[in-house]
Amino acid sequence: MSEASTDSEKPEKDAPYRAPAPGPKAIVELRGIGKTFFRGKEPVKVLDDLDLDVPEGSFEALMGPSGSGKSTLLNLIAGLDRPTRGTITVAGTELSKASDGALARWRSQNIGFIFQAYNLMPVLTALQNVELPLLLTSLSSSERKKRAQTALRIVGLEDRTHHYPRQLSGGQEQRVAIARAIVNDPKIIVADEPTGDLDRQSADDVLNLLDKLNTELKKTIFMVTHDPAAAERANVLRKLDKGKLK
Ligand SMILES: Nc1ncnc2c1ncn2[C@@H]1O[C@H](COP(=O)(O)OP(=O)(O)O)[C@@H](O)[C@H]1O
Ligand SMILES: [Mg+2]
Repeated sequence: MSEASTDSEKPEKDAPYRAPAPGPKAIVELRGIGKTFFRGKEPVKVLDDLDLDVPEGSFEALMGPSGSGKSTLLNLIAGLDRPTRGTITVAGTELSKASDGALARWRSQNIGFIFQAYNLMPVLTALQNVELPLLLTSLSSSERKKRAQTALRIVGLEDRTHHYPRQLSGGQEQRVAIARAIVNDPKIIVADEPTGDLDRQSADDVLNLLDKLNTELKKTIFMVTHDPAAAERANVLRKLDKGKLK
């Protein structure tokens, strides 16, 4: 694991100028982010003047005490919520400038979200659950099906296509949810405690899968976790405490 690198190094005085090797661009860029919720009339400051750069292609883990604002931060990065202050640029789009409709469209093309509790629709099969995000696109029904099948193959569940969530184990449900998250081929995957409800073996299967999405499919992954074994898989470990990132 390494600290997040910066590209602010300046050449030494009198040294021949050499342009720094271009590091990976930040695909997630937060500047001066504040988020305050209101409990009745009482403001609750959750995030305070927070900056964050996530380089394209990295796999980052975020830890922090319960209630420290980890999910709030993920929702902001994914364009599911808006900050009280500051700017958020993700995959080249400044989210604060986008209308709600534009933001929903942007999200469907750029973000794959994985939840702790899978959030599959119980009345739909694995294939239909995975196909769901594609209903917002203009793809034909046969193309949608083909892509959903490909996503299920990537997560190793091509033999569970017609199973309903109740017929799957927790680990399999989470892998269906991951297939749903990648079916639109998003650049970024955000995961909120993706192994929180799983036994060790299923958690390791899910982590192996995230690792594969990062190294082979080059997805940028930003994962909130309480699980030290999950955090260990990431290239960068960040900590959120009292509204600040460390
Ligand atoms: N929609 C909301 N309205 C009011 N308070 C909220 C809302 N969402 C989160 N909070 C508060 O913000 C704080 C951080 O919540 P959250 O981001 O869920 O923390 P974490 O994911 O780190 O456990 C908590 O005190 C929570 O009660
Ligand atoms: Mg949370």
